[in-house]
Amino acid sequence: MFLILFIISLVFIIRLFFQTRYDYWKKRNIPFCKPTLLVGSFGSVLTLRTAISNICQKLHNDYAGYRYIGFFDMWKPAILVRDPEIIKSMLVKNCHSYRNLVQVEHEVDPIMALNPFVIYGNEWRSVRSSLTSQFTSAKIKPMTSNFLLVNKKLVDYIKKQTEVSKALDVRQLSNRYTGENVMINAFGLEGRSFEDKYPDSFKVGEQFCSKSKLVQFGQTMAMLCPKIARILKVTFLGNPISGLFKNIILDALKYRNINNITRKDFLGYLNEMRAKSAPFYVSDDEIVAHAFTYFLDGYETSALTLAYALFELSQNSDVQNKAREEINEVLNKHDHVLSYEAAQEMIYLDNVISETLRKHPIIKIITRVCLDDVVFPSPHPDDEDREVIIKKDTEIFISCEALHKESKYYPNPEAFDPDRFNEQNKNIIPKCAYIPFGEGPKLCLGKTFALAQIKMGLIAILSEFHLEYNKKTKLPLEQENLHIFLSPKFEMLVNFVARY
Ligand code: HEM
Repeated sequence: MFLILFIISLVFIIRLFFQTRYDYWKKRNIPFCKPTLLVGSFGSVLTLRTAISNICQKLHNDYAGYRYIGFFDMWKPAILVRDPEIIKSMLVKNCHSYRNLVQVEHEVDPIMALNPFVIYGNEWRSVRSSLTSQFTSAKIKPMTSNFLLVNKKLVDYIKKQTEVSKALDVRQLSNRYTGENVMINAFGLEGRSFEDKYPDSFKVGEQFCSKSKLVQFGQTMAMLCPKIARILKVTFLGNPISGLFKNIILDALKYRNINNITRKDFLGYLNEMRAKSAPFYVSDDEIVAHAFTYFLDGYETSALTLAYALFELSQNSDVQNKAREEINEVLNKHDHVLSYEAAQEMIYLDNVISETLRKHPIIKIITRVCLDDVVFPSPHPDDEDREVIIKKDTEIFISCEALHKESKYYPNPEAFDPDRFNEQNKNIIPKCAYIPFGEGPKLCLGKTFALAQIKMGLIAILSEFHLEYNKKTKLPLEQENLHIFLSPKFEMLVNFVARY
């Protein structure tokens, strides 16, 4: 009898707890998505049937007209922001009142824990300011000779492959290209990306962008239940980074030091940082962590962007021809020498990349958690007078995918139209309605490097090949449901036809 009473009381208390929790947005008069007991809006996320980004996209689309809406990350209050003005205030003006949702413990994952993505406050300021110098245009410009070297390898590889079949998977091709670029530009290493069937960069990249359900579950846990993830020692990277990347970096460093080799690349900078830090000790883990930031953030994101750009160009022959005409025109002007300056003059190609990232934002959601109470305007524009206090610890999500497909900012959003970003049109797009690289102080650190390598790859390919749609690529493209980045579910086959 006592046991039955105990169970009934327990159920009652749990229900009351959730009831009170789930009244949170109602009490504040904020429109919200009705939660399911225990799991809030994330039931299908916890069972790995869908990704957080898909839920956010749906919320964004379902609540048109609102600036933001409430929902529940299990029992924790969360908000999906739709309004570019509020996004601007979060990412730019009041950036320091927020941190990223993903948190990584030094003890559990010392490599990921130093990535500027996840740290905040003074630690972020210190790491960001020490790395910034390595990502300026002044650093990227001297990389041109390396880009040209990798371009040649890329073109030779495509020529060789197309002797067998003109259809190439642009996803894999782009991974080879950016893998080689990152290895040579950041670490001065030959990546053997075009020689090996399964190069090292693929093996390392796979740890993060894995299709393994276990890794995807770990990443979901690290996002949604960091405390439990910490206890279970589940890391955002799946496993603590493999010995492979660590060995590559530490061996390269050792080789340089033994042979007195100094280089002005990212690894050289990290080595210098260690030398200058004496008597303080910069550990191997710290060196590998920063090197991994370059690799992790630089390799897959750029590869996916390049792949989607190639795919879109194969679908839109008018855009492809216009881009090629511009390349020819500029190269004619520069005696057929592809320099950094020449690439800078290819404005239409910039617009092709911008439009690729609009339609296919590789980072699907941007997440934040309030570090302080913050003030938002009313959830509905008709209710101008009301201000709302969003409490400290509230989770906030932005769906870049849904925002970039809003027809009020991008008429006919499924059309691939680089002219949305030409001089005349780009200013019509509200600031922060286009955020493929984020915005404000936490704007993507590697944006200049990313754009440079993607552009160089496109110039190399368009100069030598016509791209044609391959009928085996099923349309509309299906996306990998649980992948951390926006990525295609199946091969993206494009036919490469030599121009000469
Ligand atoms: C097309 C390629 C890329 C895309 C779409 C992309 C996108 C983004 C986005 C959206 C953010 C902001 C996230 C936020 O506000 O929470 C970000 C941050 C960051 N990105 Fe990128 N990125 C790309 C390439 C790169 C490259 C090549 C590197 C480095 C080699 C890099 C390094 C970083 C770092 C370190 C941050 C964190 C910055 C901070 O929080 O201070 N990214 N990126």
